[in-house]
Amino acid sequence: MSSGMEEMASQIDDLQKKAESDAQSAGSLEALQAVQAAFIGRGGALNEILRGIGKMPAEQRGQVGQMANQAKKTLEERFALRRKELEAAAGQAEQSKVAQYDPTIPARREAVGSLHPVTIVQRQIEEVFSRLGFIVVTGPEMESEYYNFEALNIPPMHPARDMQDTFWLGNGKLLRTHTSPVQVRAMEKYGAPLRVIAPGRCFRYETIDASHENTFFQLEGLLIDRNISIANLIAVMKLLLTEVFQREVEVRLRPGFFPFVEPGFELDMRCEICGGAGCPTCKHSGWVEVLPCGMVHPNVLKYGGIDTDVYTGFAFGLGLTRLAMMKYGVRDIRVLNSGDLRGIIAAEKLTGPTIVNGSRP
Ligand code: DAH
Repeated sequence: MSSGMEEMASQIDDLQKKAESDAQSAGSLEALQAVQAAFIGRGGALNEILRGIGKMPAEQRGQVGQMANQAKKTLEERFALRRKELEAAAGQAEQSKVAQYDPTIPARREAVGSLHPVTIVQRQIEEVFSRLGFIVVTGPEMESEYYNFEALNIPPMHPARDMQDTFWLGNGKLLRTHTSPVQVRAMEKYGAPLRVIAPGRCFRYETIDASHENTFFQLEGLLIDRNISIANLIAVMKLLLTEVFQREVEVRLRPGFFPFVEPGFELDMRCEICGGAGCPTCKHSGWVEVLPCGMVHPNVLKYGGIDTDVYTGFAFGLGLTRLAMMKYGVRDIRVLNSGDLRGIIAAEKLTGPTIVNGSRP
């Protein structure tokens, strides 16, 4: 062998040994891949050596080429072997991970969303009244003074305005203090005979405590037809409360003053929270006002363009928020407008989840 050949042979030999030891110490498939590329890849060390072949005498080239090819073959086999070893080791690691999984651990309970208690009660009442032939309408939350007061028989300067602390807006309008303005709006739009309910958000400039909020929900009801009397009013109110509470509820009727009804009543219900013994929610009286109502005042019918010689009607203003509190035992009204979910959870406990996988059951 010429000295050039010898040198070449030892270079190839060294390279092969180095490659073998590097492959052995490669701890992962990625590392092995890198070793392979470094030695027998396109730009690898072996090709680098082979580039020197050109400078050798022609008769020696074949032999060197053969040595190089042999080394490459050997290395390929070595790499393949090492790859198998590494793959087996990775498989074992995966297996031991599976072994750590304990199928007896109870599954984590998925958080299931729920409708707001007020929404639940609202929908329930809408359903009851739809069966009785009422339509569900809405009115603006930013209301005119005319619909909120005047058309309800509460003229400017009338002391009844003091009963409702109002948010007045810079544009001359106000945030409606009740859903009653929808009464005259509905009369104007649909005429008589008429059966509507109007649920919605109301606002009062209130000092907030356990039973007062600046934002709350009411549900207005209005029925106008021929020969409507207080007997019809009482029958419908009892049906409503029986449906909401799913049992016979104890009620009492007291005279109540509202300028838009004559006669007007306060319909009270036995407090659901204390059962009548007295608690902060019922102001220790055992009764909670749930349903102010009455026969629609002729002036209001006239504002709505209804012929008072032919038609009479009754109206009621249900405190939707208060009713939801009663139904679900929510003691503090502030919970309902806050991010505190305990009130919502209280409702869910009684009714079950109302949204499952994003849709109502
Ligand atoms: N709008 C009244 C309020 O918020 C409640 C009310 C009373 C509504 C009597 C009515 C009614 O429809 O007939 O204080």
